[in-house]
Amino acid sequence: PNLRGFLSLQDFEKAAARHLPRMLHGYLAGGVETDWSLADNRRAFAEWGFIPRVLVDARARTTAASLFGRDYAAPFGIPPMGSSALLAYRGDIVLAQAARAKNIPFIMSASSLIRLEEIAKANPDAWYQAYLPGEPARIEPLVDRVIAAGFKTFVLTVDVQVSSNRENNIRNGYTIPLKPTFRLFWQGATHPRWAFGTWFRTLRNHGMPHFENMDAGRGPPILSRDLERAFGARDGLSWPHLELIRRRFPGKLLIKGVLHPDDVVRAKEIGVDGFMVSNHGGRQLDGAVSGLRMLPEIVKVAGGLPVIYDGGVRRGTDVMKAYCLGASFVFVGRPMLCAAAVRGQPGVERAIDLLQEEIHRDLALIGANSMQELGPEFLMRVG
Ligand code: FNR
Repeated sequence: PNLRGFLSLQDFEKAAARHLPRMLHGYLAGGVETDWSLADNRRAFAEWGFIPRVLVDARARTTAASLFGRDYAAPFGIPPMGSSALLAYRGDIVLAQAARAKNIPFIMSASSLIRLEEIAKANPDAWYQAYLPGEPARIEPLVDRVIAAGFKTFVLTVDVQVSSNRENNIRNGYTIPLKPTFRLFWQGATHPRWAFGTWFRTLRNHGMPHFENMDAGRGPPILSRDLERAFGARDGLSWPHLELIRRRFPGKLLIKGVLHPDDVVRAKEIGVDGFMVSNHGGRQLDGAVSGLRMLPEIVKVAGGLPVIYDGGVRRGTDVMKAYCLGASFVFVGRPMLCAAAVRGQPGVERAIDLLQEEIHRDLALIGANSMQELGPEFLMRVG
């Protein structure tokens, strides 16, 4: 595919807005209620500017970064995004393979439509992200299944106590379970590239998509009423369940969606290995601040454990600002899924290259040779 026209991650987001049916694009791009948190993720970056250093020999610079003792080519990865295979043909596999080819981390979602065992084969370094109800009888078999599939890193998302109020999904007709309405049919008919390239191709080659990774076994199809139960309340999930997972999962354990330093302290006592500071891309509690604002305080109490940031990262300079504020790594969500939707694996690889090239160039311009050299001395608050 011709990728030369894509010069930044935003170009993939714009192309996806044209390519995808309205309800799917709304699901991908949208936030929640007033979109305050979605906007805060961008606003938080805009409040910082750089004070570069000059006359630094930057010929030896590298974008490499390591996490949990593994070396990656770039300081960013791809976070979990549910239902990816509705937006891009075999979306999770595409993202997993692109991440593997480019040597960056990839996290698969609990609400993926492809079995976790298959994703582990496509990328043996992939991490598993869990959505769990507060019921040990449902937690234990799932954790065992993840271990059996060979996952070495387990991410528990903790900011989805209940489904959030995504009004844009309701307005656009995007529901779980998916309802086969005239509107759905019409939106497919008016987006034939998506309809044939993703939807019919999926049905023909793999059958009706199911949620495959909610429990120990296969989940219900996306049109099933049972989904309401499968997606049922996770509002009972609490600290003892994190302890239970810690005792059962031998690999690295992270929590995703933490914003308060006291929660970081408590999770650290339980023995987690790292934190993903995030407001879920502005998709859960509207009004939750951008994790970027909490980074310095969280890094202070994390005691050297990795503190990972996600939310609104679109440019190499955003990755660098997060590092200056103490992040050990960042993740980039929507643009990667947009790239998968519009151009498949080569598109995602192009998006990764673009972001990595931006960082490589900007390291020279800021006067540093590595991500590890970045710190608050390069930053100034401007708003
Ligand atoms: C998400 N996110 C998410 N997080 C998670 O823990 N489990 C999940 O299944 C999903 N699903 C999901 C679907 C879609 C379409 C999006 C856009 C996001 C949140 C995701 O992991 C990440 O926190 C944000 O996407 C980061 O913000 P940006 O980079 O998209 O601005």
